[in-house]
Amino acid sequence: MVHFLKDYPTYFDWLMQQCRTLKVPSVNAVQGKNSYKLSLTIAGEMEKTGGMPFSQFMHHALYEPGLGYYSAGSNKLGEGGDFVTAPELSPLFAQTLATSFIKIFEQSTANVLELGAGTGIFAVELLKELEAQDSLPERYYILEVSADLKQRQRQAIEQNIPHLANRVEWLDRLPKEFSGAIFANEVADALPIDLVRKQKNNLQKAQVKQDDSGFRLSWQDTGSMLETNPYVKQWPHGYSTEHHLQTEFWLAGLVECLTNGAIILNDYGYSADEYYAPQRTQGTLQCYYRQHKHHDPLLLPGLQDITASVNFSQIAYAAHKLGAEIVGYCEQALFLMSSGIERQAAKLAEKLGSDTMAQVKISQQLKKLMMPDEMGENCKVLIAAKNCPVQLQGFALSNKLHRL
Ligand SMILES: C[S@@+](CC[C@H](N)C(=O)[O-])C[C@H]1O[C@@H](n2cnc3c(N)ncnc32)[C@H](O)[C@@H]1O
Repeated sequence: MVHFLKDYPTYFDWLMQQCRTLKVPSVNAVQGKNSYKLSLTIAGEMEKTGGMPFSQFMHHALYEPGLGYYSAGSNKLGEGGDFVTAPELSPLFAQTLATSFIKIFEQSTANVLELGAGTGIFAVELLKELEAQDSLPERYYILEVSADLKQRQRQAIEQNIPHLANRVEWLDRLPKEFSGAIFANEVADALPIDLVRKQKNNLQKAQVKQDDSGFRLSWQDTGSMLETNPYVKQWPHGYSTEHHLQTEFWLAGLVECLTNGAIILNDYGYSADEYYAPQRTQGTLQCYYRQHKHHDPLLLPGLQDITASVNFSQIAYAAHKLGAEIVGYCEQALFLMSSGIERQAAKLAEKLGSDTMAQVKISQQLKKLMMPDEMGENCKVLIAAKNCPVQLQGFALSNKLHRL
């Protein structure tokens, strides 16, 4: 067999074979060349060490400058892309969250720091709503790792709210100190994770290696995680899941820079009890290419999104350890309902008048945001505050802190 990286035509055939197997549209030449360069980079690094932890492979696949999924050009988010997020789906999401931002501003400073702002749509809609409620922040900071998405965010701000553009500033790293509201939607689930599995009484961690037919997983025994993860004992033989190491560092950075204010996290995820339940035998890792979902993270390098649900108990524990108070935790649907999404939807519907198509669109958006089998139950909101005694309407219907 010829090595899959022998030359570009061989590699392109390798990608096309994957598209046929997954039954997804073919990749184009630009995508193929980017993916080839990325795979050469990954393979080059593997030659030095014989392989790399899965988290390192995932980091390259998503964030390799100019080549990774989030770092290379082309539309990933939204209807024509690979997946849709809540802010992409509907302006109602940002409009409804605005009241929580205002409450946090009242107890800290009117500043926002958004992490991983995607296409910039949340920033645009939130700033519009805060302006309408006469509660504009002094500064709206964005920390984004992807140069390509930063560019899209700038365009979105310039095109939609040029009069507010001077309030928006892009940062290269977290500020030393920040007072205000920190926000991240579907960022924690895009952070690299490690893959682990239980074989008899051993816990194994995945390394990525290469052979002629492509990248493959190779499993190695690891003793240390057996002691630190209390759930391992209850898992059956063959159980696979994810280990989140970077999430804790990422969260620690946010809590440490926050002098007073709150962190709002919205993401797909579970409490540790649900995440590591014995019946969830195949973990939560998912890959998306052109709205097609599958579970093989080694395919289509740099061209597909790779994501794993968030362990909210781990986040809450890490935040608490660093001096933050967990204000609340519940499903997205309940948070939005308590925060008045129905009122916002009625306002939007009134604005659109008798346009039936627009009205239908609003109810479809509401359904996706709220239905249990869509984002409503699968996405959770967690808010952690520091030196900020804030009470939020969003947790009036339900606060499941006890589940964490
Ligand atoms: C799934 S997208 C979500 C985008 C947007 N928040 C939304 O909901 O539409 C993940 C975003 O997080 C960014 N990202 C990933 N890791 C990051 C990090 N450590 N710091 C800041 N942004 C990050 C990605 O580049 C991308 O913009």
